[in-house]
Amino acid sequence: MSGGSDVSSPLSGRISTSSLSDLKDLEFSSESGCLSIVVLGASGDLAKKKTFPALFNLFQQGFIQSGEVHIFGYARSDMSDEGLRERIRGYLKGASDEHLSQFLQLIKYVSGSYDNGAGFELLNKTISENETSENNQPGNSRRLFYLALPPSVYPSVCKMIRSCCMTPSSHTGWTRVIVEKPFGKDLDSAEELSAQLGELFDEEQLYRIDHYLGKELVQNLLVLRFANRFFLPLWNRDNIDNVQIVFREDFGTDGRGGYFDQYGIIRDIIQNHLLQVFCLVAMEKPVSLSPEHIRDEKVKVLQSVSCINHDEVVLGQYDGYKDDPTVPNESNTPTFASVVLRVHNERWDGVPFVLKAGKALSSKKAEIRVQFKDAPGDIFRCKKQGRNEFVIRLQPSEAMYMKLTVKKPGLEMATEQSELDLSYGLRYQDVKIPEAYERLILDTISGCRQDRTSATSTVAYASPRGQHMR
Ligand SMILES: NC(=O)c1ccc[n+]([C@@H]2O[C@H](COP(=O)([O-])OP(=O)(O)OC[C@H]3O[C@@H](n4cnc5c(N)ncnc54)[C@H](OP(=O)(O)O)[C@@H]3O)[C@@H](O)[C@H]2O)c1
Repeated sequence: MSGGSDVSSPLSGRISTSSLSDLKDLEFSSESGCLSIVVLGASGDLAKKKTFPALFNLFQQGFIQSGEVHIFGYARSDMSDEGLRERIRGYLKGASDEHLSQFLQLIKYVSGSYDNGAGFELLNKTISENETSENNQPGNSRRLFYLALPPSVYPSVCKMIRSCCMTPSSHTGWTRVIVEKPFGKDLDSAEELSAQLGELFDEEQLYRIDHYLGKELVQNLLVLRFANRFFLPLWNRDNIDNVQIVFREDFGTDGRGGYFDQYGIIRDIIQNHLLQVFCLVAMEKPVSLSPEHIRDEKVKVLQSVSCINHDEVVLGQYDGYKDDPTVPNESNTPTFASVVLRVHNERWDGVPFVLKAGKALSSKKAEIRVQFKDAPGDIFRCKKQGRNEFVIRLQPSEAMYMKLTVKKPGLEMATEQSELDLSYGLRYQDVKIPEAYERLILDTISGCRQDRTSATSTVAYASPRGQHMR
């Protein structure tokens, strides 16, 4: 796959089939105005580890190109363009020096505060100068603002974007704003944030993303469930004993204790990422793949979750958490949580969904384990060897495998557990699995709304039924 300036860009409507082969399902628009991508909070952790590397990978694959796209970093830190480039250079992997420097030349840095017009006016001026220099038709400019910032500054930053940095007019041009989770801390703050942003932007301009929804195997869940005859009759209380959705990290706060301690593992991982995965595993078939239809089914399944039984919740904090100097000594913030959700509907009544997340554990992985009931009338007496289990490993090393009982090869009639294994690293050796952030940014540029969380984020704070996270 080629990159840089020598291939036509799928985002300009001149579709490069080689680039598209990896991202078949995306619909590309024929918009052709100058595209400006603004990373607010460019000096931060998310920007350097995820946002800029995702933009770089899109550049390498020809999705964004010199001559059409300009990238701007914005933050309070005093830095030059070159300073920002040096800061992120080490995180941009797998390219020739030439490609890397082509990409870095697209990036400019503007310094300013988050609540004062001067910085944003300067930002607008810098963006406009580039738009004009590209011979852009007035009203065709596309401006994407990515908020890699603490949520406390979302409202003031959005006000500034609204008053200083909108695309001048909207012929085919647009202004879009990406906000990352967390969307508030509880139901009240999520609603308040939603109302504040809603006053400034139309729903079509706002992309509230949960990057878990951009993961390859999370994207695959709808296909697996609803395009395979195998699963259709099995996916219910008659056949499934329990479902486990697990997130483990083998490191602790990793220097981000100050941030983490305000949220804890429930708000940082379970309420958003794991609940989104839970929705995709448990929801009914949507009427279509339209984001509204998918959201409607997610909301329904969240509304069917019964009140959580306190006996089915485990919370913990790893030894050494409070050694992090940014964590208060008296903190009782959980770094581990396990909770059982019970879905009160015809499909799932009686099936526990166990959501588990923890930091500083022995391994690093995120997976879904669907455990089936035992086969009735076991003439082989093989129950002790384990159940049928369908495992979807979201990260690392994407895979799905089905554990099943088979005859042990040989003369004896003995059984053993084996696996039907679809490990992506083996099956798709020549395919680069896109990073979640690449897909989310690309979807936002092309106006696809599949990965947005919209109403589910607020319902998630209000679920299970009657219990609000306050
Ligand atoms: N890091 C991750 O892996 C990750 C993953 C998923 C979601 N997120 C979410 O993405 C957002 C950004 O995360 P991050 O880790 O990049 O955050 P961060 O490094 O703490 O903050 C990003 C930038 O925002 C500015 N900033 C920090 N604290 C501020 C404050 N109290 N008031 C105003 N500005 C402040 C700083 O820039 P200046 O001082 O230069 O202005 C900082 O470089 C957060 O909402 C986070 O929850 C992060």
